[in-house]
Amino acid sequence: MKQVITRAKSFSGKPKIPGDKSISHRGLILGALASGTTEVIDILESEDVQSTARCLKELGVIITKKENHTFIDGIGDRGFKKPDHDLDCGNSGTTMRVMMGVLAGRDITATLTGDHSLVKRPMKRVSEPLRLMGANFTLTNENFAPLMVKGGKIHAIDYELKIASAQIKTAIIMGALTAEGTTRLTGEIGSRDHTERLLPHFGGEIKVSDTELLIKGGQKLIANKLNIPSDPSTAAFWIGAASIIPNATLEMENISLNPTRIGLMEALQRMGASITSEITTATPEPVGKIFVKTAPLKGINIPKSEVPSLIDELPLLAVLATQAHGVTEVRGAEELRVKESDRIEAVATNIRAMGCEIEVFHDGFKIVGPQKLKGAEIQSYHDHRIAMAFSIAGLVADGETTIHDAECVSISYPNFYETLKGLTNT
Ligand code: S3P
Repeated sequence: MKQVITRAKSFSGKPKIPGDKSISHRGLILGALASGTTEVIDILESEDVQSTARCLKELGVIITKKENHTFIDGIGDRGFKKPDHDLDCGNSGTTMRVMMGVLAGRDITATLTGDHSLVKRPMKRVSEPLRLMGANFTLTNENFAPLMVKGGKIHAIDYELKIASAQIKTAIIMGALTAEGTTRLTGEIGSRDHTERLLPHFGGEIKVSDTELLIKGGQKLIANKLNIPSDPSTAAFWIGAASIIPNATLEMENISLNPTRIGLMEALQRMGASITSEITTATPEPVGKIFVKTAPLKGINIPKSEVPSLIDELPLLAVLATQAHGVTEVRGAEELRVKESDRIEAVATNIRAMGCEIEVFHDGFKIVGPQKLKGAEIQSYHDHRIAMAFSIAGLVADGETTIHDAECVSISYPNFYETLKGLTNT
């Protein structure tokens, strides 16, 4: 499906932002492991979250819905059912990696697979620490799905994370819950911390400090009620649009303001954007309101230390950088190359197609602004964040911008184009 975007004269509104994708995956998985019935309110209805639900159902978990309430009948001491089919994780890296950790220490044999993009993404980064715990994995070419896990008894490890990835961290935490002994994680533990915040919400225990995480094995989780806040990575597209489209005003509420997720908001504020926020709820996740108005932007440096807090927003940041005065340089973001697409290449190809210049590094990019964006044919590479970032570019470009394979926005934001139309005046 193609979407044609034209320049917006103004941009305003109070959009309701769908539920956070990372918290939705974790709500389903922790609810599935707990004893009792977990009620999740406002779960994200998107393909990625459906992939997690599909895998859990294949493992015998009963998940039902009534309007915006999702009920998960947790397995508690019952254990999973032997799956009749492969576990299809679709496009979702979080589903596959976290499920590897969930299954490693349980008496289940399962094959995990995914779509054309997911089978090209590295999985050894997860199987390696889980194998150190004693888990049994067989991967395609030692690194890829389809992959088989033969769960069984596993033991705690002391492990230094080399990549700041919440998916790897969560997979190890999930394994640690079923391992014998106390698992200690050090190194790059500063990625999004939803798992650490949610475990205690489900009666679990995790010790968190700046330098280590300690997770006791043999823990039992208890069902709870969980409200899913709106996704800041989704809200980011409207925050970006409102910053660069003339005469914009934007107000959003119930957005997760988790400090590990608001890197783009903070970067934009340093660029001169007019963004204010107000926390309305503090636990288990800080949640609040955001107000944005148009403002002139200036270039910014994003060092490696800031990358995890805005990793999913970097394609959008590249688009915004074309409209900012001065140099924007992002480094230490080589993880972008192994997302749903090679996001450094995808960004560079599309920025150039729109008539702008970009310098590409193995771990980032540099853009000198301001530059005029011209309408162009945009390849989404079936990557939701690329499709959405370049749709925002289309709103400030001369002429028509056509986004190809735009249906991929359903991975995280099925109503993206309806909301975009409601917010823009062309
Ligand atoms: C996610 C973690 C991030 C992020 C992804 C969701 C999660 O990936 O890019 O969209 O829910 O844990 P990494 O863990 O690979 O950094």
